[in-house]
Amino acid sequence: MARPVRIAPSILSADFAKLGEEVRAIDAAGADWIHIDVMDGHFVPNLTIGPGVVKALRPHTDKPFDVHLMISPVDAFLDGFAEAGADTITVHPEAGPHVHRTIQHIKSLGKRAGVSLNPGTPVDALDNLLDDLDLILVMSVNPGFGGQSFIDSQLRKIEAVRARIDETGKAIDLEVDGGIDPDTAPRAIAAGADALVAGTATFRGGPDHYATNIAALRGQ
Ligand code: DX5
Ligand code: ZN
Repeated sequence: MARPVRIAPSILSADFAKLGEEVRAIDAAGADWIHIDVMDGHFVPNLTIGPGVVKALRPHTDKPFDVHLMISPVDAFLDGFAEAGADTITVHPEAGPHVHRTIQHIKSLGKRAGVSLNPGTPVDALDNLLDDLDLILVMSVNPGFGGQSFIDSQLRKIEAVRARIDETGKAIDLEVDGGIDPDTAPRAIAAGADALVAGTATFRGGPDHYATNIAALRGQ
């Protein structure tokens, strides 16, 4: 049976001058989760959103906030994003210093915990972490910017992560992030993804197009 695929528009590609309106628009257009890319200008070469913005957006939708933290060190910010209304908090193992402790911290806040693998990070970075994870995020671009091209080599990694998840028998989400569009989405899904982040491909053309853009990612 085909897995349901969740679409998580990345608001990195939204109009930042009207973020609340943009979040309401993607909610109405069929987004399953709202993907929020948090960048610190240090772990990745870009600066974006802090907990204050997440808190301000929270009243605009009931959809889960899928918060992707590209911050190093990350631990000092976990409480702030949890209090701001994050539902899933995803971190990178390189963001350190101790990824297992970071995951325990996220779980202690009552939030879903995710780990993200950069294109150059091997699947075995998940060793000893799977028991506590709710989500694995495979980056199909190097993190930092929207609008980059999907890196094909990551399809093999998605397959390998799918096998690891299936071995556990647990319902761990397998999300793919970067360069997702109507051509790459079915390839990521065929490799085992069950959640897709899409910034450029969601917001292309403005609000009148969001529903058709999201449907196109589902192959509809
Ligand atoms: C990249 C971010 C992505 C990005 C995706 O560092 O994690 O979520 O916004 O953008 P697109 O879909 O444009 O590749
Ligand atoms: Zn992201």
